[in-house]
Amino acid sequence: MNIHEVIKKRRSVRSYKSEPVEEEKLNRILEATLSAPSAANRQPIYFVVIKDEKIKYQFKNAYKAPWFYTAPIIICACSIPEKGWKRNDGKNYADIDATIAMDHLILAATSEGLATCWVAAFNVSIVKSILNLPPGIEPVALTPLGYPLDIPEPTLRKPMEEIVKTI
Ligand SMILES: Cc1cc2nc3c(=O)[nH]c(=O)nc-3n(C[C@H](O)[C@H](O)[C@H](O)COP(=O)(O)O)c2cc1C
Repeated sequence: MNIHEVIKKRRSVRSYKSEPVEEEKLNRILEATLSAPSAANRQPIYFVVIKDEKIKYQFKNAYKAPWFYTAPIIICACSIPEKGWKRNDGKNYADIDATIAMDHLILAATSEGLATCWVAAFNVSIVKSILNLPPGIEPVALTPLGYPLDIPEPTLRKPMEEIVKTI
């Protein structure tokens, strides 16, 4: 698959097989985060890979949707704001850097035939506590990772002219 095929193939998948993810695939997917760009190359990112069933069970307090727990792996993308580059108006780019790295991971997973679903609607303080994150490490997004059971149809997109202006 070329990059355009991978981008088109990606879906937010909300139903997974229990089949495990091969370690080589997982490593390639995680390595994709290392190739992501970051502001001033600060790399203020941190990823937690959750396979432990007991920790996954605790996560149900932070994000309740049952489908989320059908996948064998949960990945938590974090930023480290104190290490992030700041624009001269004070805007901190750490969350954006973590987001770009997560998107690299998600597209790499798609290219391996695996599925993901970006999840932001979780309880941050519960996730911090379950993962025992040191102060200064902020969870930005979660995704399940596994083989898809049902692949949904593509969702609707705005027309190009609404989101792109060429001048
Ligand atoms: C920043 C962000 C947060 C999201 N949070 C959630 C979420 O909490 N729960 C969920 O089921 N999907 C979540 N999604 C997935 C979106 O609903 C999904 O990307 C959108 O409906 C488009 O569908 P597609 O990803 O299949 O193209 C999130 C996506 C993004 C980019």
